[in-house]
Amino acid sequence: PFPQCPPRARAAVASLVPGRSEPWVASAARSGAMVFADVGWDETGRWDLAGLTDLAHCQAFLPNAQEAMRYTRTDCPRAAAHALAEHVPLAVVTLGAEGAYAVDSATGTAAEVPAIAVEALDPTGAGDVFVAGFVTGTLANWPLADRLAFAGLTAALSVQEFGGSLSAPGWAEIAAWWQQVRTCAGQDPAALQRYAFLQDLLPATARHWPLRRAVPTIGFRP
Ligand SMILES: Nc1ncnc2c1ncn2[C@@H]1O[C@H](COP(=O)(O)OP(=O)(O)OP(=O)(O)O)[C@@H](O)[C@H]1O
Ligand SMILES: [Mg+2]
Repeated sequence: PFPQCPPRARAAVASLVPGRSEPWVASAARSGAMVFADVGWDETGRWDLAGLTDLAHCQAFLPNAQEAMRYTRTDCPRAAAHALAEHVPLAVVTLGAEGAYAVDSATGTAAEVPAIAVEALDPTGAGDVFVAGFVTGTLANWPLADRLAFAGLTAALSVQEFGGSLSAPGWAEIAAWWQQVRTCAGQDPAALQRYAFLQDLLPATARHWPLRRAVPTIGFRP
């Protein structure tokens, strides 16, 4: 059975379900964990933000564009992010192949980072990988735009492969990608600059892109 409260941690990710409060969320927040909230499609069709009671204990909320617009009754994902920022310290709306847009309610600042262009083979888990990348950058105290870029990069690399969490890239893959885009001709220097923060985080020598991966075979039987 799932423990009443997860072990003490600096960060936790909660999948909020409308109308259902999970006591561990408040308790983790009380013990100092930064809670990042994800959400899914509201099968009840109510899309009532007040039904996401645990959002009050969360530092960040990361819905996709459709979810964000429905919860805020807006027709623009960026407007939705601003509306959500009135309920949570940091609202991040993911925009699929367009990237992500975030609003920090403490400072009122917004940031947007476009996605990198990839051949999307399997979008499963893009949202989850994005959250994981965003948590990583937050724990490392990176600026908001760097966190969006890193989360988006990890999610974009994951949609190029089959699988959900199994397709999340590791550091070796990120290093190989960075070396590849830095050294191939014809890149837009301004676009490249957005990822320059990676330079200090990655080993000086990387393996060659693309890295060969084992394809997960679970779940592919007819
Ligand atoms: N085709 C794509 N190309 C590049 N990046 C992508 C693509 N699709 C998704 N991403 C990245 O993944 C992030 C999350 O994707 P999306 O907005 O579709 O979330 P989601 O609908 O919650 O996904 P999920 O189906 O996993 O729940 C995007 O913000 C983007 O950074
Ligand atoms: Mg999602």
